[in-house]
Amino acid sequence: MTFSRIILPTLGLLHAFLLVQATNSIIQYPVDFPDPKFIATSKFGPQFNGAKATIIAWAEAMASYGPWSVTNKPVIAPSGDKHDYMSWAPYQWPDCSNVKNTTALSLADESKQCNFVYRDGQVNPERSVIQDFQSFFNLSNAVLYNSIAAVLQNKTSSVYSKNVAKFVDTWFLDAATGMNPNLNYAQMGRGPNGQFGAYTGVLDLRGFAMIASGILMLRTSHNADWTAELDSKFVDWCTKYINWLDTAPNGQQAAHSTNNHGTIFVNQYAALKLIAGDKAGAVNWTTNYFSGRFQHQVNSSGDQPEEAGRTRPFHYRNFNIAGMITNARLLSYADPSSKPWNATADGATIQTTVDLLMTTNPSATGEADIQREIYPNVAAVASIYGDPSGKYVGYLNKTGFPYADEPTFLWSQPLAGGDTLGEDTKPKPKNSANAVGVEYLLHAAGVLGASFLGFQLL
Ligand SMILES: *[C@@H]1O[C@H](CO)[C@@H](O)[C@H](O)[C@H]1NC(C)=O
Ligand SMILES: *[C@@H]1O[C@H](CO)[C@@H](O)[C@H](O)[C@H]1NC(C)=O
Ligand SMILES: *[C@@H]1O[C@H](CO)[C@@H](O)[C@H](O)[C@H]1NC(C)=O
Ligand SMILES: *[C@@H]1O[C@H](CO)[C@@H](O)[C@H](O)[C@H]1NC(C)=O
Ligand SMILES: *[C@@H]1O[C@H](CO)[C@@H](O)[C@H](O)[C@H]1NC(C)=O
Ligand SMILES: *[C@@H]1O[C@H](CO)[C@@H](O)[C@H](O)[C@H]1NC(C)=O
Ligand SMILES: *[C@@H]1O[C@H](CO)[C@@H](O)[C@H](O)[C@H]1NC(C)=O
Repeated sequence: MTFSRIILPTLGLLHAFLLVQATNSIIQYPVDFPDPKFIATSKFGPQFNGAKATIIAWAEAMASYGPWSVTNKPVIAPSGDKHDYMSWAPYQWPDCSNVKNTTALSLADESKQCNFVYRDGQVNPERSVIQDFQSFFNLSNAVLYNSIAAVLQNKTSSVYSKNVAKFVDTWFLDAATGMNPNLNYAQMGRGPNGQFGAYTGVLDLRGFAMIASGILMLRTSHNADWTAELDSKFVDWCTKYINWLDTAPNGQQAAHSTNNHGTIFVNQYAALKLIAGDKAGAVNWTTNYFSGRFQHQVNSSGDQPEEAGRTRPFHYRNFNIAGMITNARLLSYADPSSKPWNATADGATIQTTVDLLMTTNPSATGEADIQREIYPNVAAVASIYGDPSGKYVGYLNKTGFPYADEPTFLWSQPLAGGDTLGEDTKPKPKNSANAVGVEYLLHAAGVLGASFLGFQLL
């Protein structure tokens, strides 16, 4: 696959030294938690110009789609409350042979009257009629990159932090547009026998790890646009949603799942705890992840049997590793004395899982197009465990991917590369289209049941 690098159309807001920077096309990372204190208090030198330019480009591009609200969707949840979040199970297809008159069957009627059949791996395009899932993902990305852009500016107020305040207020808090703190209708099945969300739908809100990172950055930097009033209302919202996760059967089933759902549940839960000011809760859950589920997930070769058995094993292993890395980042932030990167399962660490995957050819499982999913994981491992032999940088170099222009390069440090190498040594832009390109490689597993074997592009 080739990687287009794109010249930014909107240069006005950038510092002069960024003017010549090309930026990477947008990709939505599955989940991550850049250490908010590190981002808010570090001074980033010229080797980070590429990563900074990309972050600002993504902040502006994602902001252009917002603000988002669950009240915008054309079909209302079965509760009749337009403030309820909803997404449809992706592999359920209507069979309306039981309906007598289908002449004017609306989507809402179809959802109530027709039977639904499961077609594994085949996404029903009706799913995209409801944009709550994609909206929340765009919101999460917008909050993270606009927060980083705001702290990079080192001003108490900026267009970027104003974006964050507006987006959080609109999605969560505003009386007219806010979301109710529940996922009763996430990845919902349809049909006359009932319309209920599934535990797999909890994964829909995994972007909370990114949101928490962004909000904690604004708190750390005492940003004036993130007001005390917004902060306390958001804490209140998150506390109510945590209560839903603690008590609703779907929340509890997600909390107890053993595969990537369990890993990424902890990402989300610990992130919510950090927003809500319960650091000890975040430490408890992430610590328990490493002493519990992680032990079950990883074997001595560094493989992950629960993900390896999937038809897209390269993807699922990467997805779960991104979740492990995020749990380690959350725990390291919440308790700097912790040692999650040293956690072993049968002698294997997070590093072992990435090392193994680096020797795995995704083409062998028909996944040639998703090589890029491993890059943020390789960068994270190189920065944490060190790269004395240049193994990781060598791997990234070999792909031709401009990894030092990727946002993750800013927080996966130290890692060799970046602008100090000199602009001339970097790959030349392969095209200079002045639109921001988009790739969706990392959305999968929003939809996984134990038997799910497909890869979903939303
Ligand atoms: C932000 O600006 C203040 C002065 O206004 C300065 O003391 C501080 O070092 C700056 N922080 C960063 C990360 O550049
Ligand atoms: C079927 O439904 C349509 C629209 O509701 C209506 O116009 C039509 O008369 C109905 N046909 C029958 C046979 O009931
Ligand atoms: C989300 O962002 C992508 C670009 O990354 C865009 O194509 C899509 O239309 C956006 N959707 C929503 C609901 O914001
Ligand atoms: C600690 O986390 C576990 C789940 O990992 C949970 O069952 C338990 O209630 C938590 N304890 C406290 C005090 O929060
Ligand atoms: C680890 O798991 C993989 C995938 O299930 C399996 O192929 C491999 O044999 C396991 N290795 C060990 C040492 O158990
Ligand atoms: C693992 O633990 C050792 C000993 O405490 C420490 O020196 C090392 O930095 C740790 N490694 C990581 C990646 O945290
Ligand atoms: C990676 O590529 C840069 C040039 O882009 C080069 O300076 C560096 O030595 C390479 N490192 C490795 C380990 O291949």
